Amino acid sequence: MPENPRPAARGASADWWRQAVVYQVYPRSFRDLDGDGLGDIRGVTERLPYLQRLGVDAVWLSPFYPSALADGGYDVDDYRDVDPKLGTLAHADEMIARAHELGLRVVVDVVPNHTSDRHAWFREALAAPPGSPARDRYVFRDGKGPDGSRPPSDWMSHFGGPAWTRVPDGQWYLHLFAREQPDLNWANPEVREDFLHTLRFWSDRGVDGFRVDVAHGLAKDLGEPLRDYGGVHPDPMTQLPLDGSHPLFDRDEVHEIFREWRKVLDGYDPPRSAVAEAWVATSRRVLYARPDELGQAFNFELMVSPWSAEQFRVEIDAALSAAAVCGASATWVLSNHDVVRHRSRYALPAGTDLDAWLRSGGTQPAPDDEVGLRRARAASMLLLALPGSAYLYQGEELGLPEVADLPADVLQDPIWERTGHAQKGRDGCRVPIPWTREGASFGFGDGGAWLPQPASFGELSAEAQDGTPGSTLELYRAALRLRRELQGDETLQWIDHGIPATTHVLHLRRSTGWESVTNFSDADVDLPAGEVLLASGPLGEGTLPADTTVWLRPAGA
Ligand code: GLC
Repeated sequence: MPENPRPAARGASADWWRQAVVYQVYPRSFRDLDGDGLGDIRGVTERLPYLQRLGVDAVWLSPFYPSALADGGYDVDDYRDVDPKLGTLAHADEMIARAHELGLRVVVDVVPNHTSDRHAWFREALAAPPGSPARDRYVFRDGKGPDGSRPPSDWMSHFGGPAWTRVPDGQWYLHLFAREQPDLNWANPEVREDFLHTLRFWSDRGVDGFRVDVAHGLAKDLGEPLRDYGGVHPDPMTQLPLDGSHPLFDRDEVHEIFREWRKVLDGYDPPRSAVAEAWVATSRRVLYARPDELGQAFNFELMVSPWSAEQFRVEIDAALSAAAVCGASATWVLSNHDVVRHRSRYALPAGTDLDAWLRSGGTQPAPDDEVGLRRARAASMLLLALPGSAYLYQGEELGLPEVADLPADVLQDPIWERTGHAQKGRDGCRVPIPWTREGASFGFGDGGAWLPQPASFGELSAEAQDGTPGSTLELYRAALRLRRELQGDETLQWIDHGIPATTHVLHLRRSTGWESVTNFSDADVDLPAGEVLLASGPLGEGTLPADTTVWLRPAGA
């Protein structure tokens, strides 16, 4: 373990995370140093200088713990170890130490809603009789009907199919995700205690923060009789009740858990940060981000918004005021490992059913990739101009599109099988990163890539874009450099050009005088006066072309 787990930080303040840029690494798709076809921890360490040069503040790693990869590592066998396929604990220590040397913070994923079915606790539960303490760490119930052959409730798995699986002695266990991901019972004190142990384990090793998976799912109403809800998953962001009354999601009791976590995280110097993945409405989401809880919660509203000035304006305002009310800092996300990459989303007509589009192999409708890239670059610059922290997903700095034509026989996302092949799932945004123009798996590793990369990845590789004027990689580097220089307080001021729905322009000013203007329309608009600092695409003579963001320093600022 490193002797001094405190980061040799850039501005080692306790608030480093409030306006940080955090880069998400999906470890098995990032860089495969040992050539077994899967990315690994040493691969991450090797590429930390690339991330430092990119200009991010922190790296967040999706799970790298021992796992059968039934859900890409979100099925965890042991929270306090490293998957031997990805490395060792010593490799993790080296990675953390190297990140700190380079001035980068490290955030790790914690998956508290469920373990994997290979976790020691679940094996113990299966070997133990109904009603035993080992079963009480999970959610085991008798089935319905005279022989108990019907599931205990109509709850559905988020990945399709029933949320219950029967075990040989006749009982059923709950899994809101894949059957390999049994839900934990958070009313059990041992479960609570064990996660505090996990938070300490990684904090002691020098980890700076935690990303909390399915934070809105831990507290459940498991009182008998279990409450049916109609066999359909509510759309969590729009249809969950706002009063904490759903049996499975966003219950008020969940906040007690995070208050306990905060006490542990605040026991470190600097306090460890945390961000909730809570797919709930803005007014509820910020509750997870209160200072005595996690501090931040992902705001996914922009990620699910169409390319629209009006929509972006509404979501930005809502997120900033909700964050301010709670004393949290706002967060912004356009892509992650669970959604179609934003370049491809913006290449499609608004309202496209993305599942149907993926089923068509990415052909129906045909994406306009040039428009997609233009908008993606403009959106990323707008995101980086906002107060609060920005979460970037690996490969977006290269402008990678979704790989929508993956053949069925390579798909690994459990969604594919669990929906009876109705949904292809999330593999298309998890294709290994291209580092070089040519060569085995475009420099991902010598052992090939676990998902096939399209030929177009060569020209999108980091090597092809490095030093190339106008490349997306150079745009991100320049934007991150400027952001660091120009960063102001956590407020923004809108400069109105008229109603966004009509003008299709969003123009904002930060407290340092730095301005960002985005033209969402398909026609040129006048370029506001000022010194141009950076633009997401070519500018016209005194005009800001369609789908373009420009950063300006107004005269006198
Ligand atoms: C979160 C993760 C997702 C995973 C799910 C179950 O939503 O982001 O990848 O499948 O939780 O752990």
